[in-house]
Amino acid sequence: MSKRVAIFISGGGSNMRALVESMTGDHPARAALVLSNDPQAGGIAWARDAGIPTDVVDHRPFAGDRAAFEAALAERLAPHAIDIIALAGFMRVLTAGFVAPWQGRMLNIHPSLLPKYRGLDTHARALAAGDTEAGCTVHEVTPALDDGPILGQARVPILPDDTARTLAARVLEQEHILYPAVLKRFAAGDRRPVMLP
Ligand code: GAR
Repeated sequence: MSKRVAIFISGGGSNMRALVESMTGDHPARAALVLSNDPQAGGIAWARDAGIPTDVVDHRPFAGDRAAFEAALAERLAPHAIDIIALAGFMRVLTAGFVAPWQGRMLNIHPSLLPKYRGLDTHARALAAGDTEAGCTVHEVTPALDDGPILGQARVPILPDDTARTLAARVLEQEHILYPAVLKRFAAGDRRPVMLP
C-alpha cells in the first residue's frame, strides 16, 4: 500500500508541487494532505486545485504558545492516517513535543549544504563567507534545528556575480530534483543518501 504523505508549507510551495507531481505511477507514496500555517500560502490553492486535501493552522492566534499550535497541527493530521511528513518551506520551528513522535518519519529540505548555515539567510551567509559552492540538503527532522541524518544533498557553483536572489534560484532548481528523489527512496524504506550531481 502507498505511504501517505503530509506536506507542510508556508509559502508558494514550489517544492510541494515538485513532490506532488513526482508521486505517480509506481512511486511508493502519495500526497494525502497539504497543510500550511499561513492562510495566504499560494501553494494551498494549487494543492486544492490538484484535488489534494488541504488544511490551514494559522500560527498567529497561538503567539507565545507553541505547544498549543503543535497540538492543533497534530489534531488536523490525525484523520489522514499519515505515514510521512515532508516539510517543504515550512517556516515554523517545531519543538521536541511535536517532532519526537514523528522522528524517523519526518523530512525537511534546507537551502544549504548542512551542517553549514542552519537557520535563515543561508544564501547571503554563503556569499558573505566567500564560498565557491552552495546547495541544498534533505534530512530527517530531529528536535535540533536543521539537524538530523542527511538523506541527500545537491551542489551548485557560486558564480562571481551572484546575489542571494540568483543563488537561491539556482539552488531551488536543484531542490526540485533532490527532494522528490529522496522522498521516493525514503518511502521505499531506503535511507541511503542521494548525492547529486
Ligand atoms: C525553499 O528554498 C526551502 O529550501 C526553504 O524555503 C524555500 C521554500 O520554497 N526552506 C527553508 O528555508 C527552511 N528553513 P517553496 O515554498 O517554493 O518550496
